[in-house]
Amino acid sequence: MTLGSRSHDPDASPEPLDPERILAALSPGARGAIARLEIHTEIDSTNRYLMREAATGASCGTLCLAECQTAGRGRLGRPWISPFGASLYLSMLWRYSAPPAALGGFSLVAGAVVADVLRRIGVEGLALKWPNDLIWGRRKLGGMLLEVAGEARGPSALVVGVGINVRMAPDQGIGIDQPWVDLAEVLGHPTVGRNALAALVADALIDAFQRFGREGLTPFLALWAEFDAFRGESVRILLPDREIRGRVLGIASDGALRLDTADGEMQFHAGEVSLRREAEFGGEGER
Ligand code: BTN
Repeated sequence: MTLGSRSHDPDASPEPLDPERILAALSPGARGAIARLEIHTEIDSTNRYLMREAATGASCGTLCLAECQTAGRGRLGRPWISPFGASLYLSMLWRYSAPPAALGGFSLVAGAVVADVLRRIGVEGLALKWPNDLIWGRRKLGGMLLEVAGEARGPSALVVGVGINVRMAPDQGIGIDQPWVDLAEVLGHPTVGRNALAALVADALIDAFQRFGREGLTPFLALWAEFDAFRGESVRILLPDREIRGRVLGIASDGALRLDTADGEMQFHAGEVSLRREAEFGGEGER
């Protein structure tokens, strides 16, 4: 593997991102699977960057982190506020021989394995909002953005971006348009270091990329269900042009959200779909 260069302001963050520390904390298998590790002081978006790199031939296993993002991206075209040193901004490129359409289920896989990492470091009461929002106490702790490119019949390049609020001062969170929380509040001080967290997340993603390639979504569904925040809840699905009300029945074997509606069971795939609890209407709620 090759190691990208980095530069940083040592006073701006208690623990600057450090490639040596991240690599040292990885399992040997994961370390061997990383083709290149890049840490940027500032970038537009780690996801956007890796999608550009993927288009020009970057290797499977390219991992990119940044201290801040100037154009961080969330799901559904929303911005992801990315102040310096406050959060984990991590993206990883993985290549599959399968077509892009076969990779939709990884949306849930990423949510399940990152939630599991957070539980292992002591986060209690963490919930997943389909497909992969990390929710704690009805506030958003983090989220994932999957982007894919490729040929209709394969191969494809998948970029998984993970954002986790680590220690974000209230003024840094101005502009976030929903209730949010960080690991510092959830775990108490001092919180987990971002290098250790980056290694745990990368380790879990690499293991999941490999297993998903062999076995698909099925082996991850039980883990996802352990964090399911919405099963049995009355919800609204917000589509670009309409809303659909119903009760969440669970997750289908392909990762679709199953909803019991007035017109019978309907299924929705992650994409241009936003999910809200019915109880949130008329009040402020997470998205
Ligand atoms: C969401 O919940 O809306 C998804 C948020 C994903 C944010 C991460 S931060 C690292 C990567 N780069 C981006 O621009 N977005 C993802």
